[in-house]
Amino acid sequence: MTASKRILILGAAGRIGRTAAEAFRDAGWEVASLVRGTSAERIASGTQVVEVDARDTESVAEAAQGMDVILHALNPPYTEWPILVPQLAEAAIAAARASGATLVLPGNVYNYGTDMPPVIDESTPMHPTSRKGALRVALESRLRDAHIRCIVLRAGDFYGAGEEGAGSWFDRVIIRYVEQGRLTYPGPLNVVHAWAYLPDLAFTLVRLVEARAQFGEFETFGFPGHAVTGAEMARAIEQALHRRLKISGMPWPFLRMLGLVVPTFRELAEMAYLWQVPHRIDGRKLEAAIGTVPHTPFETAIMDTLDGFGLLKKR
Ligand SMILES: NC(=O)c1ccc[n+]([C@@H]2O[C@H](COP(=O)([O-])OP(=O)(O)OC[C@H]3O[C@@H](n4cnc5c(N)ncnc54)[C@H](OP(=O)(O)O)[C@@H]3O)[C@@H](O)[C@H]2O)c1
Repeated sequence: MTASKRILILGAAGRIGRTAAEAFRDAGWEVASLVRGTSAERIASGTQVVEVDARDTESVAEAAQGMDVILHALNPPYTEWPILVPQLAEAAIAAARASGATLVLPGNVYNYGTDMPPVIDESTPMHPTSRKGALRVALESRLRDAHIRCIVLRAGDFYGAGEEGAGSWFDRVIIRYVEQGRLTYPGPLNVVHAWAYLPDLAFTLVRLVEARAQFGEFETFGFPGHAVTGAEMARAIEQALHRRLKISGMPWPFLRMLGLVVPTFRELAEMAYLWQVPHRIDGRKLEAAIGTVPHTPFETAIMDTLDGFGLLKKR
């Protein structure tokens, strides 16, 4: 008998939501893409659209009926996190409870504050120093205490998947002005920063989910991705574009000042430490669970990402 392979993706038009929808579909899963309103136009082909606002707990639970796995890939705007992160989590938990499906959350590194060690693993104590970090710690505690089957896969900043994965630090900031010969890096160039190439992360989610029978009720794993310095990032971009770029930094003090009146800048500015404190994610627990972790060579991932934004043709 073939085990059923049905997944509901909450936030299926988002960066990891859409990339994961493609990866699960390609791995032979039946994929239901839950989106709201006009975002239905952006779901992965070959997946079934479910138009529901994820704040509507009952409808999310209904959509989850018959599912084996639910991927919680929703992400409200930073300024709405205090209200919506807990609210959307409750909808996802209710859906997992009603269907018996395993809930999967892409975790991030905000849980660790300015005192985070250079290598983060599953036993690293969480001392958040930002409002959003405290919310992520509370979110994961809530998932653990909900006594549903749950997997958290923690990753660094997303990049890749071209226009479909747009809206990350990589394209909004770092490569934003490369066509004008400029690269903006948000921190010192010698600090290691954790990145997750979306196609690798999505493929890893498939492998992890397919191995879920061996896990405990609540399990967290770290996705190592690419841990690179700003200098290594700049070099890979320059190599891919075959041109030298003028590198400048981010005006953090100015953004902090703007943050006094513009909440989005306040929320961005509180994450500045992630570019100043070196960190990478240890992937040994993940490797023990799924074997070799999907890993595109960094230079190839950068080249594919730039190509996805149509930047290679224009050099
Ligand atoms: N981005 C990163 O670098 C990163 C790194 C590590 C972990 N993560 C985590 O991964 C998860 C997904 O992040 P992401 O960056 O992939 O998200 P994203 O690209 O911002 O997409 C989130 C999606 O959620 C949808 N959404 C938000 N509220 C909704 C609602 N009420 N009903 C239905 N859909 C709703 C949005 O729909 P619309 O398109 O309609 O607005 C959007 O398509 C988050 O938990 C995030 O913290 C992200």
